[in-house]
Amino acid sequence: MGNISSNKLGQVMHLMLDRPEKKNALTPAMYSDLAKALNSAKDDFDIRVVVISGAGNAFTGGNDILDFMDTPPTGPDSPVMQFLSILHDFPKPLIAAVHGNAVGIGTTMLMHCDLVYATADAKLSMPFVSLGLVPEAGSSLLFPRLVGHVIASEIFLTGRNFTGTEAHEMRLVNELTSDPLAKALEVAEVIANQPPTSIINTKALLKSGHHQAVAMVMEAESELFRIALESDEAQIAFMKFLEKKSKG
Ligand code: COA
Repeated sequence: MGNISSNKLGQVMHLMLDRPEKKNALTPAMYSDLAKALNSAKDDFDIRVVVISGAGNAFTGGNDILDFMDTPPTGPDSPVMQFLSILHDFPKPLIAAVHGNAVGIGTTMLMHCDLVYATADAKLSMPFVSLGLVPEAGSSLLFPRLVGHVIASEIFLTGRNFTGTEAHEMRLVNELTSDPLAKALEVAEVIANQPPTSIINTKALLKSGHHQAVAMVMEAESELFRIALESDEAQIAFMKFLEKKSKG
């Protein structure tokens, strides 16, 4: 697949965001490929666990900003919403391996993963407000639930970066390691060798208390996000990104 590499390692599927020259910034085609890969992993009895990582020196720079301007998501059928939907509903364990930048959806997708490994110096951020946008992927519910209201507010409202070390302290990350992918694959193999029905049922139980609530929040967020994308605040922020790029 184009900018998503998919590799089957025994009963583990490794999906790699593979657009390193653009910090793995996610395009509609990449969201579609991710959604397709997750849907096929869901239905494939031989796949027990999925690991997601990024190629090159980043996890992902987040949604491609040029695509935010040229092909903004329009509704539940848009590639990004299809990806978020299967990410939220994916029944098997998802493990993320994070290094370098994890911007926007690069951080919010971690809240849907079951285990997360990261380097201490990974740079996470959710600069939605700074871009004139609003949080997405259920993060306005999942993040404060994880870290408490005041920390979530501070991070969302200032748009500041936080390190892998800080993410570990926040319990967004299981463990810090210099090689998150190796660690993620090692743990994935352990989980893949557990009884598969117990794994699926246990994941469903762990999520059952908030699964429906997250779906509702995701819908509300996506409505506001779509409106925000068209706003002057967002368009000005995107133009600033382009100007910075053109100045080199
Ligand atoms: N959309 C489009 N292009 C992106 C991108 C994104 N989200 N993230 C990175 N890129 C591109 C850069 O424009 C650059 O392209 P170029 O070589 O054609 O100029 C290339 O990837 C390398 O990125 P660069 O900015 O040179 O790397 P850096 O290490 O200095 O900074 C980031 C990395 C991720 C901090 C920076 O690229 C950035 O802020 N990206 C935008 C993040 C963002 O706001 N995403 C949306 C979240 S909702």
